[in-house]
Parts: sequence; C-alpha cells; structure tokens
Amino acid sequence: MRVIIRKNAQAACVTAARLIASLIHQKPDAVLGLATGGTPVNCYAELIRLHRCGELDFSRVTSFNLDEYVGLPREHAQSFYSFMHENFFNHVNIDPSRIHLPNGNAEDLTKACDEYEQSIACAGGIDLQLLGIGSDGHIAFNEPGSSLASRTRVKTLCHETIRDNARFFGSEAAVPRLSVTMGVGSIMDARQCLLLVTGEKKAAAIRSAIEGPVTSQVTASALQFHRFATAVLDEPAASWLSRKSHCDFAESSMPDPDEILR
Ligand code: F6R
Repeated sequence: MRVIIRKNAQAACVTAARLIASLIHQKPDAVLGLATGGTPVNCYAELIRLHRCGELDFSRVTSFNLDEYVGLPREHAQSFYSFMHENFFNHVNIDPSRIHLPNGNAEDLTKACDEYEQSIACAGGIDLQLLGIGSDGHIAFNEPGSSLASRTRVKTLCHETIRDNARFFGSEAAVPRLSVTMGVGSIMDARQCLLLVTGEKKAAAIRSAIEGPVTSQVTASALQFHRFATAVLDEPAASWLSRKSHCDFAESSMPDPDEILR
C-alpha cells in the first residue's frame, strides 16, 4: 500500500483531493466511490475550490456513495444523502442523474442492495473509491467480523460506531442501528482505493489496517490485498506506524500529488 503522510489534516485532505482531481483530468467520465463522515469534508472543500477556479469539471463524473442509514428520511440532516449534497454535490457541476447513494428506505432492502451492485457494474465499475476508517477498523459500515468477500447489504452498526457517530445526532440513542453498505468485496473491486485518515484517535486503527494481519476483525486491512491502494494520513494518524520513516523515504522518490495542479 502506498502511504503518504502529511503534517496535518488539512494538508492530507488537499493531497487526497488532488489525487481525485488527477484521475478526473485523465478520465473526465470517471466513476467515483465517495465516503461521508467528518474526515473527507475538507477534501470535498478542496475539490469544490478547484471546480470554482475552473480547474475541475464534474459534468461527466458518476458517483456512488458507500453507505446510508436504514430508515432515516433522505431529507434528515444526518442522512448521507443530505451530507453529500450539503458538503459537495450542491457546489459542483455534477449531473444529478449520475449521483447514486444506497436507498436506506427501500421497501425491499435486499433487492435494492442487489440493484445498487448492478448499477455500479452498469457504470463500468468504480475507478477510485474514497474511504475513511472507523475507530474499530471498519471501511464503509463493514464492522468487525464482516466477510472480506461481502457485497452491498444491510449491516448492524457496532456499539463503537454508534458511540463515534453520536456526535452528529446529539445522542447515542438517536443514531440508527442499521445501515445499507457496500461490502468489502464491492470496495475491493474498485480500480483504485484512497484511504484518507486523520487524527490521533485513528492511530491504532490505521496501524492495524496497514501493518497488522489481514483479518475480518479490521476490515480496512483487506486493502493490503488491493493492487492500487493509497493511504493519505496526517502525522497524528500515522504516529503509531512502526515503518513511518520508510513511508516518508519511499514517498520522497515519488511524484508529489500536490504538484499536479500547481
Ligand atoms: C462513511 C463511512 C465510514 C467512515 C468512518 C470514518 O461513508 O463509510 O466508514 O468513513 O466511519 O468516519 P469519520 O470520518 O467521521 O471519522
């Protein structure tokens, strides 16, 4: 896995945005897999900034989000549908008909999950999947114990995730217990994976994901089997890595993604 370490969270978000921008420059009709949560907000802000400067055109881009809560109305302020519109889609020229999020309100959730997988396949598969990591090591809502071959389905959130996400809902009791989430297998099918992780709270999880054994107990560790996975970390998130200095050394001979649009 390529590991890029930046001084702080803002710098890590800018680097992640530039890797995404570079893909869109190479492939204007790219299919992006997108994530929600606190971490990517400034990555989206940088993509919006590049769009406003005339550097980035989303008109032919297609997007698929990783996950959505079950039973939360789309208009709810904490639905991932609202999050994505507020933090990204409303500020760029993406075609609304090319935006896809799992439907957590479908009458037949199993059918909706299968259809989501089919839509991804019909779009030609995901070119770049943006990911965050949960403090329990999850990617999307693939909680510990999720099959590493899993596809889009309903998953119950773990207590740790409910506790982490209570900050968005005001209390643990208000956090939905169920989600519709792309599986680890669905994520591994993306042509590139980009894991963006910031903050010391994630240091243990990212160490397990990058340096620990591949295990369904830390679903992000499956990325060790991905051919084109990049982790962009800030210093605090990288602080528990035992091979951190090697990551910096290896990166010093790579083209700097931040230079792409300068
Ligand atoms: C969100 C998602 C989750 C988050 C993870 C980290 O779509 O799939 O896996 O990426 O829970 O969330 P934050 O960034 O809020 O720490």
